[in-house]
Amino acid sequence: MNKVFVNGYGSIGSRITSFLKDDPEIMVVGVGKYSPDEKVDVAISKGLDVYVPANKITSFSNYKIAGTIASALDSCDLVIDAAPGGYGYKNKVNLYEPKNIPAIYQGGESIIGDESVSDLLFNSRVNYDQAIGKQHVMQGSCNVTGMGRILEPLRAKFGDKLIRFDVTLIRRWADIEQTEKDVVDTIEMSEKPHHGDDVKMYFGKDTPLYVRAIKVPTRQMHLHIMDIRFNDLAPKPSEIHELFTNEFGVATIWTAKGTKDIRDYAQSMGFNFTDTNMIHIHANMTTSIGDTVQMMYSDDQTGIVIPENHMLLQAMLFGRSYEESFAHTESIFHMKEKKQKLQERFAQK
Ligand SMILES: NC(=O)c1ccc[n+]([C@@H]2O[C@H](COP(=O)([O-])OP(=O)(O)OC[C@H]3O[C@@H](n4cnc5c(N)ncnc54)[C@H](OP(=O)(O)O)[C@@H]3O)[C@@H](O)[C@H]2O)c1
Repeated sequence: MNKVFVNGYGSIGSRITSFLKDDPEIMVVGVGKYSPDEKVDVAISKGLDVYVPANKITSFSNYKIAGTIASALDSCDLVIDAAPGGYGYKNKVNLYEPKNIPAIYQGGESIIGDESVSDLLFNSRVNYDQAIGKQHVMQGSCNVTGMGRILEPLRAKFGDKLIRFDVTLIRRWADIEQTEKDVVDTIEMSEKPHHGDDVKMYFGKDTPLYVRAIKVPTRQMHLHIMDIRFNDLAPKPSEIHELFTNEFGVATIWTAKGTKDIRDYAQSMGFNFTDTNMIHIHANMTTSIGDTVQMMYSDDQTGIVIPENHMLLQAMLFGRSYEESFAHTESIFHMKEKKQKLQERFAQK
């Protein structure tokens, strides 16, 4: 049995841990907590061992702590870092590298510059094989993962006919569980968003992709508005939708008025954490005008990267083929069934 430690128990770490507990091949060593708050008891109530930094152990005296983070690392085969952006790099240098432990990092880190955590930004649809046997890999963020799910099938089908992608990312303000975080009544502009550069790390540095981003006061998913330019007349919307019929983690829906409709449906269906774990093409919004296809899709901010982490873990720990990892991830996440249910609920009228 392979032992995995999850360092960080927030929006991403708690989800990853929950799914790993359903995986018969993995033993979860425990989770790392940094603040002595009610989430420590939440983790313990779920049967998890909680580990904390050595210099903070006294502040956790009211909780039943299993030990220090350093001690948890001594008994694990791989760590999934789910720290706030930037702390993953510090953890790599101070904890994982000295102990020679392979690690997965999340999208708030970087793969360029002085504080890069890896030279590989993972997207299972694009570069799965490159993660096999790697020691340190970064999983792309939710927006970066979502764009890959659209761009790669387009590239496979249309290749040289594609001449430019313009994307506006409309980002959610906070996650559903982040109740301590106020959702501020404003539209915030993001200067120099990292997402385009991140996508180019796996899609090719010369990709004609131009990204801008704003943040809006909602907890209900991101929405991407994408214009795709062709070197001649653009395909019809139906041809675009057809491409995604069998795509993993892409549902094509017609009648959701907004992103909350999708979240509410996921909740009513009892999807774990109310996640769909995918993107949803709002097919009623796709148009083809001259040389350009305009489309919109929503991106399940927290859920989308969880099956990706699971695929990545299998590449790094077991060196499995894409097909084998995909089948195992599907047996745990049931993405096909979720996609079908979403497409039925929001079918074209
Ligand atoms: N939220 C999303 O939608 C989303 C989607 C894709 C990717 N990501 C990326 O995933 C990462 C985690 O984001 P999140 O939304 O899960 O953040 P979060 O909800 O704020 O949780 C962060 C967790 O990290 C813990 N932590 C604090 N200092 C740490 C350290 N030095 N090392 C390890 N863990 C530490 C925190 O512990 P305490 O609470 O005990 O202080 C908390 O449990 C970021 O890189 C983010 O960009 C987030």
